[in-house]
Amino acid sequence: AFTVALARSGRSLEVPVGKTILEVLHAAGVPVPCSCESGTCGTCRTHMLEGVADHRDMVLMPEEKDDQIMVCVSRARSDKLVLDL
Ligand code: FES
Repeated sequence: AFTVALARSGRSLEVPVGKTILEVLHAAGVPVPCSCESGTCGTCRTHMLEGVADHRDMVLMPEEKDDQIMVCVSRARSDKLVLDL
């Protein structure tokens, strides 16, 4: 499990094993657009302010991986990700 912190609202959410960041965000009422939910369409692209992602998508270019994440499939390598949400 890891934590996602939402920079704009100051909220912190726990992402357990077996749930995606997107599912946790939606369950908490945070509106993030999505479509494929399989890391291929690019719709759920989210900016990341802190932390190291475990990228599992097919969308991001190498130079985008430091500060963007596809929240439908990717996870965290660090204990916490701070998202621009
Ligand atoms: Fe398509 Fe995340 S919803 S890449």
